[in-house]
Amino acid sequence: MQKTRRTAFWPVDSRHPDPAVINRAGLILRRGGLVAFPTETVYGLGANALDGPAVAGIFRAKGRPRDNPLIVHVAAQDAVYQLAAAVPDSARRLMQAFWPGPLTLVLPAGPGLPPEVTAGLDSVGLRMPAHPVALALISAAGVPVAAPSANLSGRPSPTTAGHVWQDLRGRIDAVLDGGPAGVGVESTVLDMTGPVPVVLRPGGVTPAELTAVAGEIALDPGVIDTGAAAAGGGRRPPRSPGMKYRHYAPRAPLILVEGAPERVPPRIRELAEHYRAAGKRVGILACAESADLFSSGQVLVAGRRAEPATVAARLFASLRRFDELGVDVILAEGVEPQGVGLAVMNRLRRAAGDRIERV
Ligand code: TXA
Ligand code: MG
Repeated sequence: MQKTRRTAFWPVDSRHPDPAVINRAGLILRRGGLVAFPTETVYGLGANALDGPAVAGIFRAKGRPRDNPLIVHVAAQDAVYQLAAAVPDSARRLMQAFWPGPLTLVLPAGPGLPPEVTAGLDSVGLRMPAHPVALALISAAGVPVAAPSANLSGRPSPTTAGHVWQDLRGRIDAVLDGGPAGVGVESTVLDMTGPVPVVLRPGGVTPAELTAVAGEIALDPGVIDTGAAAAGGGRRPPRSPGMKYRHYAPRAPLILVEGAPERVPPRIRELAEHYRAAGKRVGILACAESADLFSSGQVLVAGRRAEPATVAARLFASLRRFDELGVDVILAEGVEPQGVGLAVMNRLRRAAGDRIERV
């Protein structure tokens, strides 16, 4: 157990952050400290990406497995050419189309990155976030910033500074509170090191949007069948080391019910009744379209099934809310795995582990 340190909590305006506060936070990063900050996807926990011991501190603070590499955040596209050994044309086009924004490009790693960042791989994930606070902080630090999501390893990613505080208070130097993150799920991770770009993790930028700019792309098998990414099973190992861990998990077990929109709610009602009869407190993660169909249990509405981006925005906050409510089991309605819905279903399936029912 590491020693407790004092964690500063600094509110900042999300569009025009106070330069004095940003400079203080930037100085902490430059000197090897840890600062959590908002991005447009989720909150990140930053360290100077060029400082191995500082980056090692991120792994300690989160309890993160050492073999899971970090994304390096930059404030301008130019910085990529110092950090990557090669930048293919298609990567250039993707940066122009989607940066700043929720897209991480995995490129061959340049020299000079400590092994703590890449977990010893010969590639590096790079992203320019679309959040004024993140961009100002990276610029103030004057160095690229390695940052995973700012949660304890295994917990749902934080979409507010309060979530970060719950998980990391006493373990990091400062939290910049720039209000709730907008997208709500993490960036799309796209591996550009092979002949065809491969989506390793679906996120804010959809496969259709990527194809429109980069042509043919492939989905890693673990994107859809999260069981395929779970370590072992005789299948090939996941290309993104992070995908083999159970993730995004609230404390209560989560059962995901997937299938036709008319069949899912009745099955959730049955399950809710079953658990209620067994004396369990039931949480239901419902879509707005079907929320009225549930009469028992703690019902939280993430968003509208028809607009999966609205579900993404409130997904992790809802999972954390169930923990606060103290439910014993969570029953979640699946959405169509299309567009941003693919990212939502990827996260829900990982939170569920093997507790997935198809109806
Ligand atoms: O939206 C986001 O991406 C957020 C914000 C803070 O930017 N960050 C984030 O980081 O989600 P993290 O560490 O929670 O997830 C990074 C993912 C992991 O699945 C990791 O395995 C993968 O990216 N990754 C990073 N570098 C990689 C590499 N060189 N090759 C393959 N996968 C990589
Ligand atoms: Mg994470």
